[in-house]
Amino acid sequence: MKIGFVGTGFIAKVHMENLSEIEGVDIAGIIEPDDRRANEIVEKYGAKRYKSLKDMKSDGIIAVYITSPNRTHFEIAKEAIEEGLNVFIEKPMTISLKDAKELEKLVLEKKVVFQVGHNRRFAYVYKFIKEKIDSGDLKPYSFQIKMNRGELQVPPWVSNREFTGGFLFETTLHLFDMMRYLFGDVDEMYVLGKKSVYDDYDDWAIAVKMKNGIIGTFVSSAHTSWMIPFERLEVYGDHKMAANDEMEKVYYSVGNKLEAVVESKDYTKVNFRKKWGYEEEDMMFVKALKGEIDPPVTVHDGVKAIEIVDACYKAVESKKAYVKF
Ligand SMILES: NC(=O)c1ccc[n+]([C@@H]2O[C@H](COP(=O)([O-])OP(=O)(O)OC[C@H]3O[C@@H](n4cnc5c(N)ncnc54)[C@H](O)[C@@H]3O)[C@@H](O)[C@H]2O)c1
Repeated sequence: MKIGFVGTGFIAKVHMENLSEIEGVDIAGIIEPDDRRANEIVEKYGAKRYKSLKDMKSDGIIAVYITSPNRTHFEIAKEAIEEGLNVFIEKPMTISLKDAKELEKLVLEKKVVFQVGHNRRFAYVYKFIKEKIDSGDLKPYSFQIKMNRGELQVPPWVSNREFTGGFLFETTLHLFDMMRYLFGDVDEMYVLGKKSVYDDYDDWAIAVKMKNGIIGTFVSSAHTSWMIPFERLEVYGDHKMAANDEMEKVYYSVGNKLEAVVESKDYTKVNFRKKWGYEEEDMMFVKALKGEIDPPVTVHDGVKAIEIVDACYKAVESKKAYVKF
């Protein structure tokens, strides 16, 4: 199974390591403007360096990972789908809702396998929480989420909205997707956002009501320093609560007694590619390419996460905090 990569930076290397451990998968080709980065992958995996997706396709590559910067995703994905290539696309799928919807239309039309890199869905801590909810053990009534960043300085383009789409696309999106994954679609939001430290909306406080009546709050700040946990989700049930610290630890508490024992799992020592969910998302993509399963994170999931981001920016820019979906 010949797979190509468009962009061979940090996250591409994570996926490549995973794929190189799956039997029958060949990291066959790359498109990468930077010679040093390209040569490293050519040497390590014996991949061929290409100039176009068309050439990749005619050499028998069946799928590409789009692991280039955010603002390039849409055009590359469009071209890949038009070529009939299957696609794994890193988050954010696009940096505008309009483009996201256009991609959805195209994917459905061309019937390619298309998976979005919302890796948190496969992270051990979130799988634990999802299983508690799906088994009926934990019925969520309300929640609290925070998704922070220590700074918007490294790499330097990370504060450039032209480049990333904005802080919500770059960082917060991960847990917008998780919020939908765990609690369903959003019905209403009350969105407050402001530019505090950077020339981008870097502080957000959002009250959310889901279509099934679950309510929650969502906070996201881009200038918190890197104090752990910068990513945390708390779910409140009927005298039950689940919560995580990053991708490292997850907790589950049951009952109304102060002295109750809290169940916990500690994944600190687990390989990063596994505990952050990257390994499983890649295995699932390969299975989807083989036709064994449907892609677990669909183009529609990509659209819905971006819809939340889009609604937040529209709310602050129009100064109309209330949003009804
Ligand atoms: N799911 C996650 O947890 C996660 C983590 C990190 C990054 N990402 C996403 O992955 C993407 C890449 O991030 P990264 O951290 O690997 O960035 P990076 O800067 O390390 O790598 C990007 C690579 O793309 C190359 N590139 C630039 N323009 C290109 C183009 N037009 N065509 C082909 N290649 C091009 C660059 O030379 C570079 O090698 C971003 O969209 C980012 O949001 C996702």
